[in-house]
Amino acid sequence: MKYKALKGICDILPPETYIWQHIESVAKEVFKTYGCKEIRLPIIESSEIFIRSIGETTDIVEKEMYTFQDKAGRSVTMRPEGTAPFVRAFVEHSLHNEPSPQKYYYMGPMFRYERPQAGRQRQFHQIGIEALGTDDPKIDAEVISMLMALLKRIGLKDIELEVNSIGCGICRPEYKTVVKDFLRENLEFFCEDCKRRYEINPLRILDCKVEGCIGRRQAVPSIVNLLCDDCKDHFEELQHYLQLLNVSYRINPNLVRGLDYYTRTAFEVKGKSLGAQNAVAAGGRYGSLVEEFGGPAVSGIGFAIGVERLLSLVSEGHNDYGPDIFLCFLGDEAEKKSFMLTNELRAEGLWVETAYDKSSLRSQMRRADRIKAKNVIVMGEEELKKKKVIVKNMAGKEEVETVLEGAEIIKVVQKDILSV
Ligand code: HAM
Repeated sequence: MKYKALKGICDILPPETYIWQHIESVAKEVFKTYGCKEIRLPIIESSEIFIRSIGETTDIVEKEMYTFQDKAGRSVTMRPEGTAPFVRAFVEHSLHNEPSPQKYYYMGPMFRYERPQAGRQRQFHQIGIEALGTDDPKIDAEVISMLMALLKRIGLKDIELEVNSIGCGICRPEYKTVVKDFLRENLEFFCEDCKRRYEINPLRILDCKVEGCIGRRQAVPSIVNLLCDDCKDHFEELQHYLQLLNVSYRINPNLVRGLDYYTRTAFEVKGKSLGAQNAVAAGGRYGSLVEEFGGPAVSGIGFAIGVERLLSLVSEGHNDYGPDIFLCFLGDEAEKKSFMLTNELRAEGLWVETAYDKSSLRSQMRRADRIKAKNVIVMGEEELKKKKVIVKNMAGKEEVETVLEGAEIIKVVQKDILSV
């Protein structure tokens, strides 16, 4: 083979693209009910945007960014996530002048130079939300509940929501000191990554996935007990609101997230069958990112769903997309009629296919079967003469005779119109 897609960067082919369309349209419907407006952001940004927000010592910035120089010598990066570009746009276009709170959604590809494996690509897709303009934990609960409502509507079952508070600029530095004090004596037993993180980003040791590190960090005190009063109240209120909305959750005190811009609320939804890369969606609150980007003191909260991981949880049983009708014909007159009828039925919103050559009825039927047509109509001299056809439902095998006219045929097959 002469050319292949780059490693970790995948083509998305039908019938999978039907599921993508379905997920995107359900997401848009759900977001609309929460007042989220769409924002379309560039795929490439100045590198500084990601370094400043995600954090210089995070895995994403240290190891995973697709960064290069453009022809003018500027350092640019293919976006590894959507929050930083969103905040850049929010400030650049003074969106804070719009009535608050404001809610936006975005969908599209993200790029991280990670080692490709199940659930981890170098180009992957996110559906994300950002809600800005209030510190009230009610909006945190609303954003989380919107995520859970969406995942439920898409049909996800075996998932678990984990929440935590990672404190603020006041209590988190103190917590970092506590963690470092606890780990100092045992540091030699931790993995190389953790040893490195100890100095630059010690809280990341709390969510290291290496077996040995998990056991050794058990004694570290939970951040939940060391939050400052404001963060503690915020976290308690968040839980109260989640309970009011009947959203089930588990507090995971080791949930610290891999991006530096978070303050207070952090959450992840884990798919129980997903293996090592088990977060299907994740997010949190960011208290000062807008200000750091030169905007006013406006805080935000958001999440991003990993579409590929979501798909790996729903793709079963969605492989039956096919035309609503396949029109078979026998003879020149019927060919002409079926060509016209195909056009007429398509104009009414049905997916209709017919043969393009004068192949035998048997081979037309075989094609209808292969492309999973829901209904088949056979048209020959007899049908044209009587002006009647039989619509055969392929799944139920029942046959209905109807008048050979678009409007009448639609009545018989209406129930099979594609919903994606
Ligand atoms: P994140 O946790 O880095 O958060 O990514 C969110 C989701 O993207 C993950 O839970 C996962 O499902 C998916 N994901 C991440 N990396 C990969 C990969 N290499 N391959 C496949 N899927 C992946 C963020 O990106 C934040 N911007 C979310 C956010 C929005 N926080 C506030 N607002």
